[in-house]
Amino acid sequence: MPLHPSIASGIAEILSRLQDANVSFAGQRILITGGAGFLGSWMCDVLVEQAADVVCLDNLTSGLASHVAHLHDRDNFTFVQHDISKPYYPEGEIDLILHMASRASPMEFTEHPISILKANTLGIWVALGIAKAKGARLMYTSTSEVYGDPDPRFVPSPETYNGNVNPVGIRGCYDESKRCGEAFVIAYEREHGLDARISRIFNTYGPRIRSEGIYGRALPRFIDQALSGKPITIFGTGEQTRSFTYVVDEIEGLLRLAAADNAKGKVVNIGNTKERSILDLANVVQAAVGTDAPLEFGPLPDDDPLRRCPDTSRAKELLDWQARTSLEDGLVQTVEWFRDQRS
Ligand SMILES: NC(=O)c1ccc[n+]([C@@H]2O[C@H](COP(=O)([O-])OP(=O)(O)OC[C@H]3O[C@@H](n4cnc5c(N)ncnc54)[C@H](O)[C@@H]3O)[C@@H](O)[C@H]2O)c1
Repeated sequence: MPLHPSIASGIAEILSRLQDANVSFAGQRILITGGAGFLGSWMCDVLVEQAADVVCLDNLTSGLASHVAHLHDRDNFTFVQHDISKPYYPEGEIDLILHMASRASPMEFTEHPISILKANTLGIWVALGIAKAKGARLMYTSTSEVYGDPDPRFVPSPETYNGNVNPVGIRGCYDESKRCGEAFVIAYEREHGLDARISRIFNTYGPRIRSEGIYGRALPRFIDQALSGKPITIFGTGEQTRSFTYVVDEIEGLLRLAAADNAKGKVVNIGNTKERSILDLANVVQAAVGTDAPLEFGPLPDDDPLRRCPDTSRAKELLDWQARTSLEDGLVQTVEWFRDQRS
């Protein structure tokens, strides 16, 4: 089946940006854990097109086999169904590991806290062991959640801010395991000299994002509700903020970081610096879908961060990267994809 136009054009845009930046992974053998997920499958698409040899490893818990099904007939793509929190010994050379495996949506923090903890502690430990054995570079996809509910004096949050996380709160399984994962990565970099780096991803959206579950990520849930003509459910007053990064910008930033020779041992925020309230998001989604579906307000879940916005000066300086796509433009593509999935 051909790729949806929103995905095909997004991949073409990323490839063109990478070419302009002289970033190429051609000929590298790359292990992507979590490769059948939302972001992982975009990585697989781009890297297969760049003529890398891609090994996509996934246990298909939150990811979908269908995200990468179209790649199975490519000679430079292999799919391995495996849980990366258990030992894994790939054959042959590996040049780069992108450790992306982890459930990542708030609903899953409640339903699957243990597997989240394992993916970001045992899983990164397994991935680091492979990197060490193969002499590979590794990039870990951490999260803005390491900042927890940030002190307003540190919003926009720079990488030097240590965060404000409740280890035993409902989000603790994700936030604290990502923090532990970061500590693992830096320990291997310090003790074994491993060429490892950490990306902190801020809320990313686009085609292939999943919307299931009432506590799922706000943006896909809003689109789903708006397209169904249902009320859009906002938790709290809607004054809490997030910054939303379109998948094309995010994948470009992540790949620039993975390729950068000046980023060993570095932690880099990859996100859009435009801070938007959740109420604002609901209005933009209504406009993108063309609906006047009403807004409904419910209680704010425990430990929900009040503000979230990255300081991306480091990404600009190290990688010459910044997000380019406005929320309004990114939503046009995303809504089109959601609409076509429903039909
Ligand atoms: N999308 C975002 O806004 C965002 C924000 C911050 C961080 N991240 C991080 O980026 C990565 C990818 O996120 P995503 O949005 O694509 O989520 P996703 O849920 O779509 O993808 C995660 C993938 O990992 C797989 N997986 C989970 N546990 C695994 C295990 N133990 N072994 C093998 N595979 C496993 C899942 O099946 C899924 O395919 C995650 O590490 C996430 O924490 C994402």
